[in-house]
Amino acid sequence: MDRRDFLRGSMGAAFLASRSADSLAQSGNPPASQTWDPGQVRHLLPTVSDTRMLIKASFARPLMEAPVLRVDSSTFRGTMNDTEGAFWQFHATGLQSNRRYSLSLIASDGKGLCQPWDLSTFPAASARPESFRVLFFTCAGGPDGGPRAYLPTAIRNRMMRRALFFQPQAMVANGDHVYWDLHSPRVPIASRDNTKLESFNRSAVVFGDKNETVLKLAAGPQIVPVYGTDFRSTPVFFLQDDHDYFDNDEAWDEIVTFPPVWFQLELARATQRLYYPEFLPDENRPRGLPWGSVGDRTEGVSESWGTVRFGCLAEILLYDVRRTCTLAGPSAVFIDPEVERWLLARTAAKDVTHLVHAPSNPMGWTAGKWMEWYPDVLNAAGKLTTAEPKPYWQAGWLKQHDRLVSAMGTMQGRIPFTISGDLHAVGIGKILRAGTLNLEKTPITAVLAGPIGTGPAGWPSAFRGVGSTPAAYLDVKEEIKPIEQHSFTIADFLSDRIKLRFFKWDVKTQSPDAIDSLQPFHTVELGRPS
Ligand SMILES: [Fe+2]
Repeated sequence: MDRRDFLRGSMGAAFLASRSADSLAQSGNPPASQTWDPGQVRHLLPTVSDTRMLIKASFARPLMEAPVLRVDSSTFRGTMNDTEGAFWQFHATGLQSNRRYSLSLIASDGKGLCQPWDLSTFPAASARPESFRVLFFTCAGGPDGGPRAYLPTAIRNRMMRRALFFQPQAMVANGDHVYWDLHSPRVPIASRDNTKLESFNRSAVVFGDKNETVLKLAAGPQIVPVYGTDFRSTPVFFLQDDHDYFDNDEAWDEIVTFPPVWFQLELARATQRLYYPEFLPDENRPRGLPWGSVGDRTEGVSESWGTVRFGCLAEILLYDVRRTCTLAGPSAVFIDPEVERWLLARTAAKDVTHLVHAPSNPMGWTAGKWMEWYPDVLNAAGKLTTAEPKPYWQAGWLKQHDRLVSAMGTMQGRIPFTISGDLHAVGIGKILRAGTLNLEKTPITAVLAGPIGTGPAGWPSAFRGVGSTPAAYLDVKEEIKPIEQHSFTIADFLSDRIKLRFFKWDVKTQSPDAIDSLQPFHTVELGRPS
C-alpha cells in the first residue's frame, strides 16, 4: 500500500481525523535559513567522533539513485533508510581528528542537493583541547496543536537558534523527541481513543508497510520543523527515552509500558534510523554491549549507549534506561549489567578530566512517576510519599542508582556531575546523601537540563499535581529548585572547572521575540577538587 492509497483508505482517514488541521499544515515545513540554501534538504542532523561523521537527512522529493556526501576530496555513497528514497544517511570514515571539513551533498546527476557547509571532527582521545561547549536539553518533541498543546514547533526552533547563537560544539538532546503515546493506562478502555494504536499494524514490519507512512506522519512533524538544517555544523547526540518508544512510562494493572514490546521497540529504532544519528563507536565502549552492534545498522554504532568524547578534556556517558530494564524485584536493573560495567569502568578510568553521567531519567528529583530511580509515589491526597509502595517499582533500580552514584562519589580529582532528561523542569542541586551513602565530601552536582517542547498540560505540577521534588531517599541541597519553563543548559568544560549557564523562557508571560535575546538567568562554576 503506498502513501496515497493509505491516506484514501479508512484507516488513513481515521488517522488524519485525529490530527488538527494546524498540525497538518505544519507537517514538516523546515525553518527557512537566511544564510544558507538547504536546496532539496528538509532536515539534516550530523554526529561526529574523532575519525567519523554520520549524517541523517531527508529530502523534499525521493531520490531514485544514491546521492553522495563529499568530505573535502573524499566521497561517501549514501544509504537509503526508508523504502521511498526520501531518507538517507551518510557515513564518512577514516577522517583526521580535530579538522574542519567542507561537506556537500551531490545527487546522482552531479547536481548539488544543498549549498556546501562545514563540519569538524572532534579532537583525538589523547589530545588536550582547552575547552568544550555543549548544549543540553530534553523533551523537544510533541506535535503542534492537539489537546496537550505542545509549544509550537516554530517557537521550539527559535529556542534552538538562540542556543546555537552561543556556538556550542555539540548538542545533547536527552530523550522524548517524539510524543505519540499508544497507550493511556489512566484512561478507561471504554473512553479511550485508540486511533493512534489502530493506525499501526503491530504484527507487520515497520518499513515497507503502511506503518512506515504512519511513522513518518507521526514523527516527522515533531522533528523536521524543530531542527531543520540548523545543526548541520553542530554534532548532535540524541538519546531515547520513554516517549521515543511511543508510550509514557506508566504501570497499571492491565499495562506495564516498559520494557518496550517488540513493535514499539521497532518504532523507536525506525525513528532513530530515519531522523537522527546513532552513536558512533568509541574505543572505550565495548562493541558487544546490547544494542551496540545490531546487524541491520552501520557497523560499530550503538543505538542506546553513547559517548561524547572530546580529547582527554571531557567524556559524557549517555544511557537509555528504558530498553534493557527488567522487573525482577531486588535484582532488577534499568541498564543491562554489561552496560553498567562499562559505565563503572569509565567512571573509574583516569584518562579524561571531566566524566559526566547523562542518563535519560534524572538523579536527584522525583515527580512520582513509575520508572524513576526512587520509590516516591503520589498518595491519594496528591502528596509524594515513600510510606506507601509504588506499584511495579523495582528495588533493584535504586540499587543500580547507588552503584553508579557511589562510583561517581569516589572519583579522584573530578567533579561528580550528572545532567539528565525526562523531567520537565530546569534545576540544579547537590546530592549530599543517598540512603546510607554519605556524599558530603564529594557531593554530586545534579542538573535537570531543561525541557523545550512542553505544553501547559505537560508540566509535572499540572499532570501530577505536584512539581519535581528531591527524592526522600536523598539529601539534596537545591541551588535552583526545578522551574517549569522552556529551558536549556549550556556547559563549558575547561581544564580546571565546569561552567554552567541556564536559560529559560515562559510561554505564559513572555513574547516569542524575547527568545532572540535570551541570556542566562543563572550561572554556576564548579571547580575541580585538588
Ligand atoms: Fe521521558
